[in-house]
Amino acid sequence: MSKTSISNLVSRLSLLIILSFFFTTVRADNAPDKELVSQGEVLFKENCKSCHAVHSIEVGPALKDVSKRRDAKWLAAWIRNSSLVIASGDKYAVDLYNKFNKAQMTPFPTFKDQEITAVLAYIDAESLKTPGDKPPVDDKNPPKEEVKDDTTSTIILILVVVVLILVLTTLIVFLSVIKRFLKDKEATLSESDKELVNQKLDLVVVVKSKMFITIVTLLFVAIAVRACWLGALSIGVEQNYEPVQPIPFSHKLHAGDMKINCNYCHTGTYKSKQDNIPSVNICMNCHTHVKEGPKYGKEGIAQVVKAYETGAPIKWVRVHNLPDLAYFNHSQHTTVAGLECQKCHGPIEEMEVVRQHSPLTMGWCINCHRETAVNSKDNAYYDKLLKLHADSKKKGDMTAEEIGATDCSKCHY
Ligand code: HEC
Ligand code: HEC
Ligand code: HEC
Ligand code: HEC
Ligand code: HEC
Ligand code: HEC
Repeated sequence: MSKTSISNLVSRLSLLIILSFFFTTVRADNAPDKELVSQGEVLFKENCKSCHAVHSIEVGPALKDVSKRRDAKWLAAWIRNSSLVIASGDKYAVDLYNKFNKAQMTPFPTFKDQEITAVLAYIDAESLKTPGDKPPVDDKNPPKEEVKDDTTSTIILILVVVVLILVLTTLIVFLSVIKRFLKDKEATLSESDKELVNQKLDLVVVVKSKMFITIVTLLFVAIAVRACWLGALSIGVEQNYEPVQPIPFSHKLHAGDMKINCNYCHTGTYKSKQDNIPSVNICMNCHTHVKEGPKYGKEGIAQVVKAYETGAPIKWVRVHNLPDLAYFNHSQHTTVAGLECQKCHGPIEEMEVVRQHSPLTMGWCINCHRETAVNSKDNAYYDKLLKLHADSKKKGDMTAEEIGATDCSKCHY
């Protein structure tokens, strides 16, 4: 190592900094016109959102990259009045119209050129984004949110390591330069300073030193304890469990987009201890008529029909499962306490595949019993207790805990 290598390092670093500035500015220049995009967003939400999304098929097709498929003139004509384009015999338009079962798109004859440009700019901008909670239409490219988060943190980690290595090399370079400089002047130094200058970094001595051994041992113990702790905490906890189901039944499509009530299918939720998975007969109420889905075409529903015709029950994989030692009653929570399904199951109506949203641990049950007031509305059963509660000078509402919902025996037989 020499002075030249230091200057080398410095010049490289500055080059790096200049380059990164350059790249950020270039990116900023390429960014679409923000004002136009936000005007387009408003227009889109008011006029198109009821039938379209950018990344998924709704009533109409996914609009991702539509301006790559069609030119501006075609798009303007289509948006102003799609039936005119279809009537003109345009093959693309006719095919699309047939593909969407001849659904009529609303005409927007009053849209100005500038407004159409704005809507398309918004669609273009959205097309660049990876879809958030809306999964892409293409089932070959499932959403990769978690993976993305992982890569971000890996990149940050790598950056940190690189910076640390840079700092370390700089330090070593400086050290050797200073040593060299002092060596030239050795004659003028005192005995102890001379010793310092001539000292060699001896790895063997370092490794054998007590300090080093203690630090390494402590580090090992800390890692082991942490691993055991995390392991113990997660025994039997299946939060985020998301098994693949035998038929691609989507809650997002049925409960979200079509807004079918939960208890149309889960008939037990409000009435009994156990909730239930619907039998195929309930599916057939609709699927005797509806034979084609947006994502899997005829294939998905054909599986439902086959199960119905052969009489073989569909082997749904159970997602939520408490151990036998715990007693849980649905109707107590839905009908009596008036809790929404989403409070415990999360946004089911947005899930393509059901995922266990809550940890389902004892701590989770008990925390909620401490925080949640009982539902005393229209429930004469609680009148007396409520009066007692009010008289007892306890602050706030009467929680589930106060009616005994944290007694061991309530949940354990
Ligand atoms: C009432 C529902 C509905 C509304 C509202 C609607 N569309 Fe459509 N759109 C459709 C349907 C359905 C199709 C598929 C073709 C067909 O069946 O006519 C479609 C097709 C399209 C296409 C062609 C897509 C492709 O893949 O080539 C574009 C572009 C489009 N719509 C843009 C818009 C814009 C922009 C708006 C809002 C200003 C809008 N649509 C509002 C239902 C709608
Ligand atoms: C059209 C019928 C239908 C509707 C409507 C429906 N579900 Fe389901 N649900 C099913 C089927 C079928 C399964 C089993 C397959 C699966 O897990 O996706 C299921 C599974 C579930 C599960 C997981 C059960 C387990 O295995 O632990 C939960 C929780 C659930 N639904 C909650 C809801 C909620 C909340 C709603 C209303 C927002 C709802 N469902 C609406 C049919 C339906
Ligand atoms: C109230 C009516 C109704 C009920 C009940 C119903 N479905 Fe559906 N389902 C539909 C409709 C409508 C579609 C097509 C939606 C579309 O094309 O946008 C569909 C689509 C589907 C698809 C195809 C999805 C795709 O993306 O291709 C599957 C699979 C499916 N349903 C399974 C089931 C199962 C299993 C049940 C019973 C647990 C069930 N459905 C109950 C109305 C219903
Ligand atoms: C207080 C929390 C809570 C609420 C509110 C709740 N659930 Fe559940 N749900 C659970 C728990 C816990 C389980 C697991 C039960 C078991 O394993 O015995 C479960 C299981 C299920 C199952 C799987 C079938 C079964 O019995 O194991 C379905 C389906 C279901 N819930 C649907 C619903 C629907 C629909 C609603 C709304 C009407 C709802 N749940 C409201 C906590 C809740
Ligand atoms: C979102 C909040 C919430 C969660 C989570 C929850 N509970 Fe509850 N639970 C309540 C409320 C509120 C009541 C009071 C219902 C009433 O008014 O009787 C209750 C009542 C009960 C009762 C009846 C208590 C009594 O004195 O009669 C039992 C048993 C119970 N819960 C078991 C469970 C179990 C087991 C779990 C976890 C798997 C759980 N709960 C999770 C809110 C919750
Ligand atoms: C609100 C309901 C509720 C109450 C009250 C409750 N438990 Fe639990 N308990 C559960 C649930 C649910 C599980 C299963 C949780 C799991 O698998 O992580 C459980 C699990 C356990 C387990 C087994 C632990 C394991 O890891 O397998 C023991 C032991 C236990 N509870 C003891 C108690 C005792 C003692 C009390 C009274 C101080 C009590 N519980 C009160 C709901 C409750």
